[in-house]
Amino acid sequence: PVASVLELGGVKIGREDVMRDDPTNNVPDTIFSKLGMQLHRRDQHPIGILKNAIYEYFDTSYPNKFDKFDDLCPIVTVKQNFDDVLVPADHVSRSYNDTYYIDAQSVLRCHTSAHQAELLRRGHTHFLVTGDVYRRDSIDSTHYPVFHQMEGVRVFSPDDWEASGVDATSYAAEDLKKCLEGLANHLFGAVEMRWIDTYFPFTNPSFELEIYFQEKWLEVLGCGVTEQEILKRSGKTNNVAWAFGLGLERLAMVLFDIPDIRLFWSNDERFTSQFSKGQLGIKFKPFSKYPPCYKDISFWINESFTENNLCEVVRGIAGDLAEEVLLIDNFTNKKGMTSHCYRIAYRSMERSLTDDEINELQWNVREQVQSKLNVVLR
Ligand code: PHE
Repeated sequence: PVASVLELGGVKIGREDVMRDDPTNNVPDTIFSKLGMQLHRRDQHPIGILKNAIYEYFDTSYPNKFDKFDDLCPIVTVKQNFDDVLVPADHVSRSYNDTYYIDAQSVLRCHTSAHQAELLRRGHTHFLVTGDVYRRDSIDSTHYPVFHQMEGVRVFSPDDWEASGVDATSYAAEDLKKCLEGLANHLFGAVEMRWIDTYFPFTNPSFELEIYFQEKWLEVLGCGVTEQEILKRSGKTNNVAWAFGLGLERLAMVLFDIPDIRLFWSNDERFTSQFSKGQLGIKFKPFSKYPPCYKDISFWINESFTENNLCEVVRGIAGDLAEEVLLIDNFTNKKGMTSHCYRIAYRSMERSLTDDEINELQWNVREQVQSKLNVVLR
C-alpha cells in the first residue's frame, strides 16, 4: 500500500493532487508510488553516494561557490518545465506520449532544467540541482520512467572572459568542458570519453559527453552555453553562462557495476547492504541471477499506437518484473495493416518466478493491450 499523502520539498501532496480526474492526466499508480522516495537523499544508496561525490568535486574545485538544492518539488508547471527553457511548442518532449501530465498546466518534471530560470531569477549564479525526473519510456536495462538528474549552472560576468582574449561564448564552452572532464576524472579516474555536438533548445552550442563502458559509448550528460534569451529574461543581460544535466543512474551503473536500472529501487538487503556512505565505486556483486522468462505478443497496430503506451501497460501489470520489451517483428500486409510482435522478458531481481505467475501476468497484458490500446491481437 502506498502512502496517500507525501511531503516533498516542504509541500504536502496528496494522491488526488497527482492522479487528477482530468482528461490530460496520464500518471499511473506505479509512478505515484515513486514520488517522495528521494533516492538521491539517501547517503547509503548508490544515487546518494554519487550525488555526494559530485558535491565533493565542486566543493574542492570551487570552494563555497555552488549553491545546492536537492528537495525542490518534482511537480512543476508546464511553463517551468518547457517554456522557461525555450522548448518549442511542437517539441516531442511536450507530448503526452513522453511526459507525465497532472493536468494541462502541470507535469512531473522531465528534467532538472525545469528549475534553471527560477533560480537564476532569484539571483543564484552558481548552483547544482538534484532531483527525481519522470519520462514515459521504453523498457530495458538502462531505461526506467523515474530517474535522477543533477543540473549545474554557472554564470560568468564580463571580468571573467575579458582578460582571456576569447569571446564570451567560447570562454564559457571551454570552461564547461574543462569542468566536466575534471568531474569525470574525479569519478572514474582515467576513462575514455568523447564530446558529441548536439542540440538542446536551452543551450547553444550544445554537447553530449559519452563514456566508454562495456564495449559501448554511453551518453552520460548533456550541456552547453546557456541561450542568451534565458539570461535576459532573468535580468542578466551582460552575462554568459553554462549549464549541464547529468543522469545519475547511468553514471552509477558504470561506477558500481550495477547491471539493471531496476535494482536502484530494490529493498532487497542483498542489494542495499552492499553500499555505504562515502564509498564510491564499490563493485556490486550480483546475487545469483534468476532465470528470465520470455513471452511474445503480436497484434495489428492502429495509428495511435506507441511503444511507450505499450510499456506503460506492461509496467502497470508486471511492475519491476518487466525487464525488457523488445520489438522483434514488424511487417505491413497487402491491405496496409501493420503487425508488431514484441518479446517481453519477465525476470525478478530477487527470486525465481513461477510459470503460473508469469502466465497470469501475460494473460493480463494481452487483455489490457486489447482494451486500452485498441489493437487487434493475432
Ligand atoms: N535537460 C537536458 C536533458 O534532460 C540536459 C541538459 C541540461 C542539457 C542543461 C543542456 C544543459 O536531456
